[in-house]
Amino acid sequence: MNILGIETSCDETAAAVVRDGQELLSNVVSSSVDLHKAYGGVVPEIAARSHLEFIIPVINQALKDAKCQWDDIDAIAVTQGPGLIGSLLIGLLTARTLAITKNKPLYAVNHVSAHPYAVVLTKTVLSGYQLLDKSPPFPALVLTVSGGHTQLLLMNDVKSQELLGQSGDDAAGEAYDKVAKMLGLPYPGGPELAKLAKRGDAQAFDFPKAKLKSPYDFSFSGLKTAVLRAAQKEAGQDFTFPSHKLSERLSGAQKADIAASFQLTVNKTLVGALRKAEQEFSPKTIIISGGVAANQDLRKQTENLYTSVIYPDIKLCTDNAAMIAAAAFYQKNVADPLSLEPDPALNLTNN
Ligand code: KG4
Ligand code: ZN
Repeated sequence: MNILGIETSCDETAAAVVRDGQELLSNVVSSSVDLHKAYGGVVPEIAARSHLEFIIPVINQALKDAKCQWDDIDAIAVTQGPGLIGSLLIGLLTARTLAITKNKPLYAVNHVSAHPYAVVLTKTVLSGYQLLDKSPPFPALVLTVSGGHTQLLLMNDVKSQELLGQSGDDAAGEAYDKVAKMLGLPYPGGPELAKLAKRGDAQAFDFPKAKLKSPYDFSFSGLKTAVLRAAQKEAGQDFTFPSHKLSERLSGAQKADIAASFQLTVNKTLVGALRKAEQEFSPKTIIISGGVAANQDLRKQTENLYTSVIYPDIKLCTDNAAMIAAAAFYQKNVADPLSLEPDPALNLTNN
């Protein structure tokens, strides 16, 4: 069964073809991230316009790379949410229209719940992908950490997903981006902050970890404020001093120490939740996905976990449509192409 996946929840226009939920036939991603750089973050209107411009060429390229004609496609899968409403609409309306005109079944997919399906892709003829030899053993703990989400799931098998916890405010990547901006680094700030952190002392600042009722829920907005207060103090300013003027008052060494201490706090928080969850659920695998999974310090810290940790190939860690197509194969959440609506706040409990 060949499924064409379509993903447009944020700033990546993506299409991919996946065979039988495991073979990657094509994976095309066009990112509008460069257009957003000047604004220091994703501008929803610009993202939506970019999707409109690229969605058809990206789908055509995905079919071409997969050497598929429309007759070879058995179903279409599309991200229903969560995400930016204007961005979701472009992918969803394109998928609905194609499902009707090409007479294909349509599957709706929850973007966050799709991230772990990157690891069930075990075959491809495409070059440059490092895939697992076989699907990982279940039960699996799944941590998805990106600019839009921080979520911990338990998957007892390839189809079931139980939400253990998530962030009630900022996602981990969002906190990285905001702290990076405060330190005068360009968007997206996560990779830049990680680079700067290498030169800093991670023990220089003792930033607080949020204390929440559930050990599996996350909150990064208090940490972000604690970083702001520490930076203001370092710069010799009071709490009213604006964050956008801070970077010019801080030395390179001060910024590196703040970056390293912030990174350590985020990673300790994430690894702490995983450690607790592996004790409670005895998983056979831990899967960590999303853009923040590229963080080298996080990878280092997870080496000490009891359970073996799998990181999908980085091209499948960040937003892509292959995970959407693979998720649809296992979840088979059939949707009506005449009426499927995007849901910007879609979460696992109402999926
Ligand atoms: O999954 P992704 O490409 O897009 C979504 O947000 O859905 O994740 C992007 C996020 C950004 O917040 C970016 O700053 C963060 O992942 N990121 C990192 C690193 N590389 C990307 N955060 C920390 N360390 C990194 N090396
Ligand atoms: Zn994502």
